[in-house]
Amino acid sequence: MKDTTKTATLTLNGQSYELPVLSGTAGPDVIDIRKLYTQAGVFTYDPGFTSTASCDSTITYIDGEKGELLHRGYPIDQLAEKSHYLEVCYLLLYGDLPTAAELEDFESRVTKHTMVHEQMQYFYRGFRRDAHPMAIMVGVVGAMSAFYHDSTDINDPWQREVASIRMIAKMPTIAAWAYKYHIGQPFVYPRNDLDYASNFLRMCFAVPAEDYEVNPILARAMDRIFTLHADHEQNASTSTVRLASSSGANPFACIAAGIACLWGPAHGGANQACLEMLKEIGTPDRIPEFIARAKDKNDPFRLMGFGHRVYKNFDPRAKVMKQSADEVLDLLGIDDNPILQVAKELEKQALEDPYFAEKKLFPNVDFYSGIILEAMGFPTSMFTPIFAVSRTVGWISQWKEQQSDPAHKIGRPRQLYLGATRRDYVDIENR
Ligand code: ACO
Repeated sequence: MKDTTKTATLTLNGQSYELPVLSGTAGPDVIDIRKLYTQAGVFTYDPGFTSTASCDSTITYIDGEKGELLHRGYPIDQLAEKSHYLEVCYLLLYGDLPTAAELEDFESRVTKHTMVHEQMQYFYRGFRRDAHPMAIMVGVVGAMSAFYHDSTDINDPWQREVASIRMIAKMPTIAAWAYKYHIGQPFVYPRNDLDYASNFLRMCFAVPAEDYEVNPILARAMDRIFTLHADHEQNASTSTVRLASSSGANPFACIAAGIACLWGPAHGGANQACLEMLKEIGTPDRIPEFIARAKDKNDPFRLMGFGHRVYKNFDPRAKVMKQSADEVLDLLGIDDNPILQVAKELEKQALEDPYFAEKKLFPNVDFYSGIILEAMGFPTSMFTPIFAVSRTVGWISQWKEQQSDPAHKIGRPRQLYLGATRRDYVDIENR
């Protein structure tokens, strides 16, 4: 963070306050208001943090106007094409692309942690079978702090490292088991001779009764989905993780908080909501009706998979995801899939509509990811858990960054109070 010679002047009640302006390596300057309350006695008001930088970070940069997403400086489309998920994990966690030896060591460390404590099975069995896999994941990941005491000391860098590796390694097993439990099939243990994505697919789709061969094209598509969702700077779930960890909570509890936040349909739940919407539309002739509803101010309906807080241009992840969707559907011979026809036509009509153009609403990554996941055989209830698996590395990288900053403070927003002012208690018989 560079201090600039620039300042901003705030004039309030006839008095002026000079506020420092800070510059990053990219992106807009920020006005440093940390001393504003002590100097001027006022707070700033920014619900939803639309104009507020909550931290400094060196991990991910998004230029929403250009439609650019960089991890440690590397564009997401290059990473999606040339790299793979575990290499991107290394990049996010440690700041640079690994050498061949570093990658081998990292992959081996992750691979050795893929199993979960055997006793966790009993924890799963406490859930109702019809529990949503996200509900199971919030519970199981939170419970990890009860199973892995030796990596909950956040002041010990070694324990922080072990917790990070454990989380990345175990999350596919935890998500796959949530699915298996949900559908009443036996848990499938991880196999460490398989790559990250293939292992996950196998744990989801294999059964003890017969062999399961992972299709390499589907494994590649799965790996891309993981890669494209790996991190996205200070989004709602990441900010939740940072806020939870600012109190000194252990990493497993913080990631469970992130998973809870991700569940909502405005965030990670959007791909499930998007596919359900495409199914509800059903046929291309009904698209105008749904577009009209999305534009109607009196109707709360929104086009799921459209719009983004930061991207005001095409989501760069959506482009790669669209290409992946074509490859997977082609492989599976389902290019005449009615959902895909509706998706393609909806995208076309929305992009031609002035309402969406004026508000800069473009398809986001979730518009296509649901189509791929469904084609692979996942039910919609697994879409958000898969997002959680992918985003774990982002949460952990941001958590580690925050923990290693000696200046970090507990997060404690202020408020604009609009409630009753002081009044005296009235005894019940007098109300
Ligand atoms: N359909 C119709 N109108 C929309 C949509 C949409 N999908 N998204 C935004 N708008 C409109 C709003 O009604 C608003 O109109 P107004 O200015 O007339 O009031 C305007 O566009 C701005 O919308 P906001 O909600 O203020 O934008 P915000 O940045 O807060 O919201 C969000 C972003 C939550 C993603 C929103 O676009 C949305 O709800 N999209 C659908 C859900 C979705 O796809 N979420 C996935 C996000 S990506 C991810 O988490 C990986």
